Amino acid sequence: MTRIPLYQQVCDYIIQRIKTGEWEEGSRLPSIRTLASQLGVNRLTVLKAFQVLKDSQYVYAKDKSGYYVQKNADNQKKQQSTLNEPKIYSYIKNSHLSDIHNKPVNYMFSTSLIDPKLLPNRYLSEHVKEVFDQYPQLLGTYAPVKGDKELIKGFSAYFQKYYNFYIHEESILITTGAQQGIDIIAKVFVQSRDYVLIDSPTYSAAVDIFLNRGAQLLPIDLTTKGFSLEQVESYMKKYKPKLFYMNPTFHNPTGYTVPTEQRKQLVELAERYQCILVEDDSFHEIYFVKAPPAPIFTYDPCGYVIYLRSFSKYIAPGLRICALLAHPILIKWLVKGKALADNGTPLLNQKAFLYYLTSERVQRHMEKLRIALQLRKEAMEKELSLKQFQWNSPAGGLNLWVKLHEDINIEKFKIKALEQQISIVPGNICDPLARSIPYIRLSYSFLNEQEIKEGIQLLNEVHESLKV
Ligand SMILES: Cc1ncc(COP(=O)(O)O)c(C=O)c1O
Repeated sequence: MTRIPLYQQVCDYIIQRIKTGEWEEGSRLPSIRTLASQLGVNRLTVLKAFQVLKDSQYVYAKDKSGYYVQKNADNQKKQQSTLNEPKIYSYIKNSHLSDIHNKPVNYMFSTSLIDPKLLPNRYLSEHVKEVFDQYPQLLGTYAPVKGDKELIKGFSAYFQKYYNFYIHEESILITTGAQQGIDIIAKVFVQSRDYVLIDSPTYSAAVDIFLNRGAQLLPIDLTTKGFSLEQVESYMKKYKPKLFYMNPTFHNPTGYTVPTEQRKQLVELAERYQCILVEDDSFHEIYFVKAPPAPIFTYDPCGYVIYLRSFSKYIAPGLRICALLAHPILIKWLVKGKALADNGTPLLNQKAFLYYLTSERVQRHMEKLRIALQLRKEAMEKELSLKQFQWNSPAGGLNLWVKLHEDINIEKFKIKALEQQISIVPGNICDPLARSIPYIRLSYSFLNEQEIKEGIQLLNEVHESLKV
């Protein structure tokens, strides 16, 4: 891996804040001492960065007073256009996925959400009315920050019954979706300049969350065979990362699954190098033929794995329920992080979800959902196979990770697709270092087979029109 010199990383950090307006023109930069301690680097490194930025006229120095953001034409223009706008942290401006989802289009291949028509909506809503009868004071109180006691008990029984592993109630925290779980983990364990290993490609919101903490991301390539454990070990040894975030089962965006034999070895490495594994298992139940291997969490006797099992993708997406499982020593701190985030996931959601979790009807729904998703996946693959696309057919999950013909410029492809009312996720958004890679993510879960057919036919035309 080529490493960017430390002073250059500090320059990038400062430039980003100037460009987004977070540090305004004419304002004083933090002192060398403050920035060095905030970023965990030597003062000389910050001094060198300031000098480089001064030479390139991003900042200027005032005698005995420090460094200030330069006023220049570019910034001037930006100030006019952003007048009255609040100062926005750079990472928020860099969260691209929500921008893509927000554009209304006819063929939404960018969202890995289940088509609401595939969910038992009437059944779900009927039960919500009963929840109010059963708990008349439901809206009059907060939920415990750690989660509703009944639901926690329900999760413990659920993992025992369906996955054959015992999890003590003390080790369970309910979060508002896996996304909140990742955010809390990052806030609790990651500080500015900490190293974080991350699967590559990856779930793009995770990248944004860790970058927001000021983390330095080290991508670990995920292939059809899993990770290179040599790479994992050498990075753990060299960089002593705080965390390794991964989505090892029907991975978003590739659909790959880390094989069973690697799961145990990953835990051994985590213990040896004292690096917490964050296992995001949001797609565990979405398989087509065979259930996936047991979670990495189940191989961990010592508490080095934090497990996130979201149910957003297939039971009741609107309820935003996720079970975070971890050693009680870690749970203690994560509960504090959760209290700061929202003081507890809404009680109504938790009570309603408990019913679905234990319902036989929901289990039967899962069987139908798997068949429907497989048909949609096959419909997409059939149309894609007519052109020069390449992908590995996934055994589960909601997405295809598709390689485009090498002549194609991805940015142009995305824009042309949008003109045809099609949204896709370009590969660079899923790359932890935002590198341009010749891949796109297409979700087959949101549209029906006919819509998929029409949309991919149009996408094939876009592809042809851009080939040189
Ligand atoms: C890998 C992964 N983790 C987490 C999430 C977010 O899940 P939730 O809706 O439970 O917050 C997603 C959503 O797409 C995802 O793909």
